Amino acid sequence: MSKIFLAITIITSFLFSIACVQKGGPDADADAGKTIKVGMYVDLTGATSSFGVSTKNGIDLAVEEINKAGGVLGKQLEVITEDDQGRPEQAKTVVQKLISQDKVQVVLGEVASTNSLAAAPVAQDAKIPMISPSSTNPKVTEVGDYIFRVCFIDPFQGSVMAKFAANDLNAKTAAIFGDVQSDYSKGLSQYFTQEFTKLGGTVVEEQKYTQNDTDFKGQLTSIRQKNPDVIYVPGYYGEVGIIAKQARELGMMQPILGGDGWDSPKLWDLGGAALKNTYISNHYSVENPAPEIQKFVQAYQAKYNVKPDSLAALAYDAAYVLADALKRAGTADAQKLRDAIAATKDFKGVTGNISINDQRDAVKPAVVLALNPDDKSLTFKTTIAPAGTAISDNANTNVTNAAPSNINVPANLGNSNAVTTNEAIKSSAADPSTAANK
Ligand code: PHE
Repeated sequence: MSKIFLAITIITSFLFSIACVQKGGPDADADAGKTIKVGMYVDLTGATSSFGVSTKNGIDLAVEEINKAGGVLGKQLEVITEDDQGRPEQAKTVVQKLISQDKVQVVLGEVASTNSLAAAPVAQDAKIPMISPSSTNPKVTEVGDYIFRVCFIDPFQGSVMAKFAANDLNAKTAAIFGDVQSDYSKGLSQYFTQEFTKLGGTVVEEQKYTQNDTDFKGQLTSIRQKNPDVIYVPGYYGEVGIIAKQARELGMMQPILGGDGWDSPKLWDLGGAALKNTYISNHYSVENPAPEIQKFVQAYQAKYNVKPDSLAALAYDAAYVLADALKRAGTADAQKLRDAIAATKDFKGVTGNISINDQRDAVKPAVVLALNPDDKSLTFKTTIAPAGTAISDNANTNVTNAAPSNINVPANLGNSNAVTTNEAIKSSAADPSTAANK
């Protein structure tokens, strides 16, 4: 009798352990599917749809390459894309759907910080990792420990442009014209002001607009009265092109400065010749001759017949950072994947080396680009790295042989020696305007 009992016990526990293996501990659900499901939410329609289209293109290209090379962990990546129309409430809704209905294991998106801020709490509550390729407002990753980005943040981006204004353009006064509804624009206005003031400059006028406005002449007239040396317009391409045009029509010919939000192939049509004498901070330069960057530029152009803007480059990097983290985690289990993304160090991206810091942000250099409406090109001016970091060869510079400490600022832009710095700065040697300064 006791032998029978023992046999039953052994058989039962054996069957039970098989069941456990099949159900398989914490990783089993995450790794059960035939593919690894990646949710993408971007604006494919609406006021800033070129952001979403470029982001989708960048992610699709990366995923195509990754899958062709055999996928990750023996599986193909399956991307499920949602259009949020550039609306924060919609961003939240589609991320809810991606997580609860499609059961994605990770989320990539959004571009505009306000949209990422709306959706990030959904991913955080579900404990599904989210990587924003391009949202730069600091609050985005503050939402929680599952929220990451592969781009720099706006306190840095704002300071880069303030330094460029004060040191390179020798500006003493600035006006700011920002989008009152955008977290991105509000943040950059604040950070620019802080740094510009610190450098001895004065913000003499601040004006506001709202997305989808088309007549900016009232605010611009107020700015004109103060005759600032530069005008900082931290907005998105849909408005800034028209703002530049209307400013020039009012006879305001001073440099107009912006940020990454200007970057769109559509900007040229909106701004036209008014984009002469404008400069933006951005994530990478398509002119960078580094082979790994040109390889990406060529593959992207071959597939989409357009040059990759910074959104496309960041999106491409975000997908590769994800693939790299999946490999290191050895599983798509959400918590292990989260930890692996957090541990990303010196990942060689198209937009520079990506290391994720304790705030889940990427620490990396920015470039300053000059816009040339004649040939619709962006000329590399300078690379500025955050304090304490060096500039690697893939870090957005045309100078591949200069020492990181080389300070070389376009000669035609004035007071070049005033570039302060515990920061690494590299400028374009290929640009004839800088050669005189060497
Ligand atoms: N940084 C912008 C934001 O946070 C988005 C953006 C990134 C737009 C790069 C264009 C290029 O809102």
